[in-house]
Amino acid sequence: MKVLMINGSSHKEGSTFTALSAAAAALAKEGIESEIIQCSKGAIRDCVACGGCGKHPGKCAFDDDIVNEVIAKAKEADGFIFGTPVYYAHPTGRILSLLDRAFYAGGANFAYKPGAAVASARRAGTTASFDVLNKYFTICNMPVVSSSYWNNIHGNSADEAKQDAEALYTMDLLGKNMAWLLKAIASAKENGLDHPTPPPKPFTNFIR
Ligand SMILES: Cc1cc2nc3c(=O)[nH]c(=O)nc-3n(C[C@H](O)[C@H](O)[C@H](O)COP(=O)(O)O)c2cc1C
Repeated sequence: MKVLMINGSSHKEGSTFTALSAAAAALAKEGIESEIIQCSKGAIRDCVACGGCGKHPGKCAFDDDIVNEVIAKAKEADGFIFGTPVYYAHPTGRILSLLDRAFYAGGANFAYKPGAAVASARRAGTTASFDVLNKYFTICNMPVVSSSYWNNIHGNSADEAKQDAEALYTMDLLGKNMAWLLKAIASAKENGLDHPTPPPKPFTNFIR
């Protein structure tokens, strides 16, 4: 089993990475592999609603950054953790651009797999950012994995984040809870219980 993590920071090994790594360590102890995909310093364009993915499901029309790689890796993954630094009390523009396009073009590769969100900040804006990331899961039939507090870490650098003992505890527990749910889903499938198949959906663009 594998958990795909996305680090929405341009810092390769900063605060967000510190939080994701703590969850990854807990998953590893449970025998679950993980991979952190880094939203490095290269540009990640936003969704322009071109509809190209409607003609080629599972692929964003713009093949110039990491979005199609994420969609392909999501297909093989069993669970997800999305991490972001807080910028002006919201997730980074780069992770929002990535997730808008990845979910719009490749949402089927994420559906019914557990997801968790993590936010890192120097001081404030974590719960607002956490809320935004969680909405990708709840629009896509994904069980949301929790810990015993909001999945936030504080610090302006990895060194500071490593001093946030409560956050590291929270991330460790998040990894353990993710492992538990992944194993429960696998066991259910082995026993003939898979996720429900949704009936056709009525789209009402306004209230009649
Ligand atoms: C453009 C920008 C905006 C920021 N806005 C906030 C903010 O609203 N609240 C906060 O506590 N920290 C803010 N920060 C600090 C980062 O959230 C903090 O340094 C974070 O831990 C960095 O994570 P990283 O090392 O993974 O990049 C901001 C940083 C930048 C660059």
